[in-house]
Amino acid sequence: MKRQSDEAGAAQFAATLAADEKIEPRDWIPEGYRQTLIRQMAQHAHSEVIGMQPEGNWITRAPTLQRKAILIAKVQDEAGHGLYLYSAAETLGTSRDELVDLLHKGKQKYSSIFNYPTLSWADMGAIGWLVDSAAIVNQIALQRTSYGPYARAMVRICKEESFHARQGYSIMMALSKGTDVQREMMQDAIDRWWWPSLMMFGPPDAESTNTAQSMEWKIKLYTNDELRQEFINQTVPQAHYLGATVPDPDLTFDEESGNWNIGAIDWDEFWAVVKGNGPLNRQRIAHKLKAWEENAWVREAASAYAAKRSRDRIEATA
Ligand code: 3HC
Repeated sequence: MKRQSDEAGAAQFAATLAADEKIEPRDWIPEGYRQTLIRQMAQHAHSEVIGMQPEGNWITRAPTLQRKAILIAKVQDEAGHGLYLYSAAETLGTSRDELVDLLHKGKQKYSSIFNYPTLSWADMGAIGWLVDSAAIVNQIALQRTSYGPYARAMVRICKEESFHARQGYSIMMALSKGTDVQREMMQDAIDRWWWPSLMMFGPPDAESTNTAQSMEWKIKLYTNDELRQEFINQTVPQAHYLGATVPDPDLTFDEESGNWNIGAIDWDEFWAVVKGNGPLNRQRIAHKLKAWEENAWVREAASAYAAKRSRDRIEATA
């Protein structure tokens, strides 16, 4: 296929964006667009995979067989989300192994939220309800992102995330209707997960180094603060329905805008966690590395099997 000149390619790229159509792997792509997508999609995939750890920690301690089965299904879903996203990122000319190596070396990030400990069963509810709802708010927007493979990966991920959020809220509902101790567990988990969930949407727009360009390229359709506000408006009434208190003494409802206005987010905490100094950053990566090394045999066996299948197919047609 004749390679498009950069001028023609850039014009086509701009026209595709302007028409709100999808950029596809075969299209001419500016290097900055490609690098931004690799950075964001890799971070998204890494988040899904590291995000398996906090919840995996409670599979053996689920209170009932049904809750255990649901949590196993959710954790397995997250692994699948990671694989979709690595596969989507590979359409940009990178490889899953390369991205995983960058994660292991601390050269790529994953979501700050997964560096917090899960201290009780109520945390499974808070993560499902708050963290997955936050992910859904962000990912519904990403279903319309300009890069085709990323947008399409979001469609199936969003469907599965809805189950994740529902099962989390179901746990919180059960606790809210339980004993005083269970209600205290529920409130304690909300107290610990509320603010880190708000931080998932990234720094305030004024401090976001990537938002302006990502909006211009329609990688992002909304800013960090816009998505954060949507999440807050959605979850505060849900917390009140649980009979829970949102841990923000400055929380007020603005009748005119219809927004719940929050107090100050501790951005020092956010940046400390992003920079590797959160409660469990080191443990999360250490666990990831240990699992990567211990399960190398699975990758080798799968590769050997795939190679044999490929040889058999060639011999069969020779
Ligand atoms: N955790 C870690 N780093 C974060 C962060 C967070 N919550 N929010 C922002 N950052 C980093 C950014 O990566 C960027 O650093 P970099 O330039 O070195 O990569 C810096 O802080 C400045 O932030 P920006 O707002 O400029 O960065 P972005 O434009 O990339 O916006 C984002 C950040 C909103 C998280 C965006 O990357 C995004 O929408 N990513 C896709 C969604 C995603 O990754 N979600 C993670 C959760 S997945 C999940 O929850 C799984 C679910 O199943 C539970």
